[in-house]
Amino acid sequence: MFLGGNWKMNLTPKESELLAKEILDLFEESLKEREDIKVCVFPEFTALERVSKVLNTSDIYLGAQNVAYEDKGAFTGEVSPNSLIELGVEYVIIGHSERRHIFKEDNELLNKRLLKALDKNLKVVYCVGETLEERESGKTFEVIETQLKEGLKNANINKDNLIIAYEPVWAIGTGKAATPEMANEVHKFIKDFLGNDFLVIYGGSVKPNNAKSLIEQKFIDGFLVGGASLKAKDFFEIYNAMREK
Ligand code: 13P
Repeated sequence: MFLGGNWKMNLTPKESELLAKEILDLFEESLKEREDIKVCVFPEFTALERVSKVLNTSDIYLGAQNVAYEDKGAFTGEVSPNSLIELGVEYVIIGHSERRHIFKEDNELLNKRLLKALDKNLKVVYCVGETLEERESGKTFEVIETQLKEGLKNANINKDNLIIAYEPVWAIGTGKAATPEMANEVHKFIKDFLGNDFLVIYGGSVKPNNAKSLIEQKFIDGFLVGGASLKAKDFFEIYNAMREK
């Protein structure tokens, strides 16, 4: 299983360092008992160095929220995979719905990012998910299939270098999570498409009070948590729900 904390653009480097320390204190002992549950935090780029120092020798992984599709050059505002690797990053999120919808990153661009990341041996958390309009017009599976087909095109993927995060756009930051059955149905679809051994995690308003019912579902292998990952205690409660699976 996999638990990711996506801190988005919520914390300064100092605040991120503090949160990383709190998380480490809470999680440290339990992580040794459950090596099958990987925990990873995704701070803002500017906080990676500080958080990396905190987590350095721990069992918590470090992730970044995006990655450039080239190693270096004239790409103002982008962050090179080489820089991430130098800072100890092991996972990158690609195709988060905020990148797709606010910053208009399309499947073709995301595919370039993903191919580069895999080429650099970074592990990818690739996000897919439908908007409310797409769900209501019955296009959920079609949209997700396209995101998978186009985003993963020509990629040498396996269960160790790729995790899929299903994040229905209408559930992100809204407090309205998908029902466990709804999420499970889409997770099954993704596993039928890619293979059963790939981890498929759910994101979108995961909280301590709904984590248990979601993780009980057969095809849900963990979470990508936004808001609730900013509070160490809530994040730990979600982890504890996963430990019961
Ligand atoms: P929330 O948990 O705040 O809804 O965010 C989900 C998300 O986008 C994680 O990547």
